[in-house]
Amino acid sequence: MRSVIDILDLTESEIDSLITVSDDIISNPAKYARKCAGKKLATLFFEPSTRTRMSFEAAMYELGGNVISMTDAASSSAAKGESVADTVRTVSCYADIIAMRHPKEGAALVAAKNALVPVINAGDGGHCHPTQTLADLLTIHREKGGFDNLTVGLCGDLKFGRTVHSLINALARNKNVRFVLISPEELKLPSYVKDASLKSKGIPYEQTTDLEKVIPSLDILYMTRVQRERFFNEEDYLRLKDSYILTPEKLKNAKEDLCVMHPLPRVNEISVEVDRDKRACYFKQVFNGKIMRMALMLKLLQEDSK
Ligand code: NCD
Repeated sequence: MRSVIDILDLTESEIDSLITVSDDIISNPAKYARKCAGKKLATLFFEPSTRTRMSFEAAMYELGGNVISMTDAASSSAAKGESVADTVRTVSCYADIIAMRHPKEGAALVAAKNALVPVINAGDGGHCHPTQTLADLLTIHREKGGFDNLTVGLCGDLKFGRTVHSLINALARNKNVRFVLISPEELKLPSYVKDASLKSKGIPYEQTTDLEKVIPSLDILYMTRVQRERFFNEEDYLRLKDSYILTPEKLKNAKEDLCVMHPLPRVNEISVEVDRDKRACYFKQVFNGKIMRMALMLKLLQEDSK
């Protein structure tokens, strides 16, 4: 039985195969329509979500399987004080695979240790979000044809943004990648990510507060929302929330083939006028997220039945 808690739980060659399967799902969806017939996915969401939960569910339906869902922690036994360990042990009796989102870092690991079926981390606090990274990797692969020789700008809340942490961990395994980390001083990338993924591997990176200065050098610009729910006080959030707003004006100095990404939801980070720019890739990420979740669940369920 195999769970995916961190993107590094998947090897580079496994991610390559997930991309190959995803490209095939996009070209031949009918071939996959019954692949998970008779299987059940349980979605356990202890935190708000639109895309992640619905895309897991849509993915399982498109594989011919079924879904049972806990969408609101307040109406579950968690509200009575049940532990994550007991909840997943229970849900393992009802489902063949579990996708779980939780506000606490490490909750997904606890779930994986106690579940009797594979667990997929759909976000644990400000820590990891591996399936968003799979969506991001498929998008980059389809837009850029691969991962090498890219200058990747990550902009916004690099401290609490779990999608950023997982994406850096994944891309830092590739050759000749270079990162530009754009954030306010208070929201810089945590040193545990910087040390393990960048410094120890000698991956070049630059830290700046100035998006406009670095935008011309970027191949990828990954915008993120300031993570209000992880702040200790509202004043800091209000001061920092609109630090970066991408507009058509700012994009004038960017490369013609820049890929503008965002895990969504956006608040103010990208003005809606940018949606018409051919470089806007964030709604492609949403579509690719469903496809990669199909490929991942198929893989884990096939491995589990061996
Ligand atoms: C992200 C998340 O939940 O971390 N959303 C998502 O899953 N696409 C990003 C965010 O909430 O800002």
